[in-house]
Amino acid sequence: MSSPSQTTQLIDRFGRTVDYLRVSITDRCDFRCVYCMSEEMTFLPRAQILTLEEIHFISQAFAELGVKKIRITGGEPLVRKGVLELFQKIGKIDSLDELVLTTNGSKLQELAESLKQAGVKRINISLDTLDAVKFKQITRTGDLNKVLKGIRQAKKVGFERIKLNAVILKNRNHLEVVDLVKFAIDNAIDISFIEEMPLGVIDSHKREEVYYSSDLIKSDLEKQFELKSTLDKTGGPSVYWNVTGTETRVGFISPHSANFCSTCNRVRLTAEGRLLLCLGNEHSVDLKRVIRANPGDMEKLKRVIIESMKIKPEKHEFNLNEQPIILRHMSATGG
Ligand code: GTP
Ligand code: 5AD
Ligand code: SF4
Repeated sequence: MSSPSQTTQLIDRFGRTVDYLRVSITDRCDFRCVYCMSEEMTFLPRAQILTLEEIHFISQAFAELGVKKIRITGGEPLVRKGVLELFQKIGKIDSLDELVLTTNGSKLQELAESLKQAGVKRINISLDTLDAVKFKQITRTGDLNKVLKGIRQAKKVGFERIKLNAVILKNRNHLEVVDLVKFAIDNAIDISFIEEMPLGVIDSHKREEVYYSSDLIKSDLEKQFELKSTLDKTGGPSVYWNVTGTETRVGFISPHSANFCSTCNRVRLTAEGRLLLCLGNEHSVDLKRVIRANPGDMEKLKRVIIESMKIKPEKHEFNLNEQPIILRHMSATGG
């Protein structure tokens, strides 16, 4: 086996280079979004999740293997104790181009400034509606006002880019897409619309009944805005359109209507230390076991990560009409 070095690239059987690591640092969240969780959830016991030191160690290994972008996710990452020190430590890994965050925004008002100082470049914030009552219905426990204050603070602090993420569900929030884009324009930020993915058993709706495709959203938007196609990429699955005359890009993440797996560049580390090779499949390697059996052995860890590329699946197969095949909820991987 070749000796892993700083320049080694992670390449899978389909010739795709993995240079993006998504790290879920907790499966817990202060919200219970209806598409992500069921009302009653059991979370992992503390002892089962990676320590912050272990997360940093694994992030370092990936950076040495050519990963350029690390996104911290959850559950809600900002509810984990010590999260700022983790950002500071990962922010110091020299070879990374980007340290980024996906959050529900509930803690941004307090933490935005420190996150910026720790080296976080871009933030993606979930926002599915601007109607406080609907927001409460969709998130079950969230407070819209708090999130709006968080977005305002993130703007003020001056991240390179802020993107909203809106999961659109028919008859829940599909009539809000124009207002959401107006809000993005007013704040000079981007927005991605996401087709709901069937991960984990949820109890609020039947997934096939609420499906609202990216094409439908786009035609709703085109009644109000001129959308111009762009080749802009942010390293994730969004396909972007510029809203003419504004700084805002509208992205579409279309796991059902426009599969993007052929350009997949990412893998995920779950909070319990499982390296998940695809969001829509269960292929994984237990990195927690590897690092606990071989403390401090970076070369061993890197070899296991390189080997894991052999089991990265070609694509996800989502079927909205059946019980989900993937029983893990989205909160276990942070998307
Ligand atoms: P950018 O860096 O801004 O491009 O972010 P991103 O879109 O990669 O990340 P974000 O955390 O904002 O995720 C937005 C949505 O994309 C979430 O619903 C994720 O589940 C989804 N997503 C990201 N990567 C994948 C993927 O590999 N497969 C699938 N099916 N969905 C993905
Ligand atoms: N389908 C699509 N997107 C989802 N998210 C959470 N659950 C789902 C789902 N079932 C989104 C959140 C967040 C991102 C990380 O994933 O809205 O923005
Ligand atoms: Fe929490 Fe995000 Fe899941 Fe909503 S989508 S419950 S904010 S992890």
